[in-house]
Amino acid sequence: MPHIVDQVSLGAIVQVRDRLLELQANGRAVLRLESGDPSFDIPIHVHEAMQQALLDGRTHYTASTGIPALRQAIYQKVTTENGLEISGPENVIVTNGGMHGLYIVFRALLDAGDEVILPDPMWTEIAENIRLAGGVPVRVCLRPETGYQYHPEDIAAAVTPRTRAIFVNTPHNPTGAVLRQPELEMIASIAERHDLTMVSDEAYEHVIFDGERHVSIGSLPAARDRTITVHSLSKTYAMSGLRLGYVIATDPIILERLKKLVRCTINGVNSVAQVGAAAAINGSQETTLAMAKEYQARRDILLSALNDAPYVEAFKPSGAFYLWARITPEWPGYQGAHDDWSMTNYLIDRSGIGSSPGSAFGPAGEGHIRFAFSCSTDQVRKAAKLLPAALESASA
Ligand SMILES: Cc1ncc(COP(=O)(O)O)c(C=O)c1O
Repeated sequence: MPHIVDQVSLGAIVQVRDRLLELQANGRAVLRLESGDPSFDIPIHVHEAMQQALLDGRTHYTASTGIPALRQAIYQKVTTENGLEISGPENVIVTNGGMHGLYIVFRALLDAGDEVILPDPMWTEIAENIRLAGGVPVRVCLRPETGYQYHPEDIAAAVTPRTRAIFVNTPHNPTGAVLRQPELEMIASIAERHDLTMVSDEAYEHVIFDGERHVSIGSLPAARDRTITVHSLSKTYAMSGLRLGYVIATDPIILERLKKLVRCTINGVNSVAQVGAAAAINGSQETTLAMAKEYQARRDILLSALNDAPYVEAFKPSGAFYLWARITPEWPGYQGAHDDWSMTNYLIDRSGIGSSPGSAFGPAGEGHIRFAFSCSTDQVRKAAKLLPAALESASA
C-alpha cells in the first residue's frame, strides 16, 4: 500500500501554471485563466485594520481557534446571513483558509475506510483531503444534459453502509452550478434518513450572478445538527493570500477534535490577518457586491467568446468564477476518447491562454476544459478576443 501522501497528486493546475510562468519568463504574453485567484485588491478598511494591528504590535500568538472579535463577527454573520442556528462563537473555528478547514474537518470526521459522497467533477483538493484523512471518495457524476446538477437521486444511490458524509459545494467549482433550496432540502433529507453528516463548502457564497440566492444547507431544518460548514474569505474579500477561512460545527465531539487539530497543525491563524478578517466581516460589503458584478460581466464576455468558438460547448455558470465547457468529439487535437490536455496545451502554445484540463477535477471532468475569470477584466477581454480564432485555426 503506497504511503497515504503518495496518493495525492502534485496538481494539474500547478503544471499549467509552471508552463505559463516559464513562457512569461521567456518574454511571451500569457493570460492567466488557469486558476482562481481574485484580481482585486482587498477592501481599504481591511488594509487599514491590518496596518493598525501591526502598529499596535498585534504580532503574537492568538487563541488557536481564533481571536474573540473575529469569532464573534463570524457568529453574527452566519446566524444572520446564512441562517445557521448555533449557540455562540464557540461553534466557530478560524482556519488557515478554507483549504485548511476542509483538511481538519475530514480528519476530525472520518475513520479509515469511511466513504464520503462528492460531486464529479469537483475541485481536486476535496477527494485528496478525504484520502488524506483515510477516507474513500465516492463520486456522483454531474452531467451536461442536466446542467451539472448534483442530483439527490444519484446521491441516494451512492449511499452504502460505509457512507459517513455527503459533501456539498454551492456555488460549485469547477462548473459554477448553484444548488437551489428544493435540491438542498432533498439532499438534507437523504442525510437525515441515513444518519449522515453533511460537509458544506461555501467558499463562493458571495460570487453569485443573475440575482440567484446562496442557500446554506446547514440552515435547513433537516440539516441543522448534522452539517459542518466551511467558509473562506479568499473569494469574498479577495483575501486569498492572507489565508483566512472558518468552520462552523455543532457536534461537541467534532468541535473538540477540530480544536485539537488546529492546535497541532497551525496553533492559530496569522494574528494580523485575523484582525483584517474581523474588519472585513464587520465592515461595508460594497466591494464584495461590486466584485460579483464585475465577475458577472467577465462571465458574459467569456461565455459569448466560447459560444462563437468551435469544439466547445460552454455551460453558463450562476456562481463562482469558472467557465466549464465540454470539448466536442470533432476537436482535431483529440488524442483519445476523453483527452482534454490537448486543448489546454494547444491554447498555451498557440495563444498563451491558460486553462485547466477537466480531468484534473475527476473522471467525469475528462473531455472538458475550465477557464477561470478571476484574473483581470483586461486579461479576460484579451482571452475572449483570441479564443474563437485560436480554436478555429486548430482545424487548419
Ligand atoms: C471549492 C473550493 N473550496 C474551498 C477553497 C479554499 O480556498 P481557500 O483555501 O483559499 O480559502 C477553494 C479555493 O479555490 C475552492 O475552490
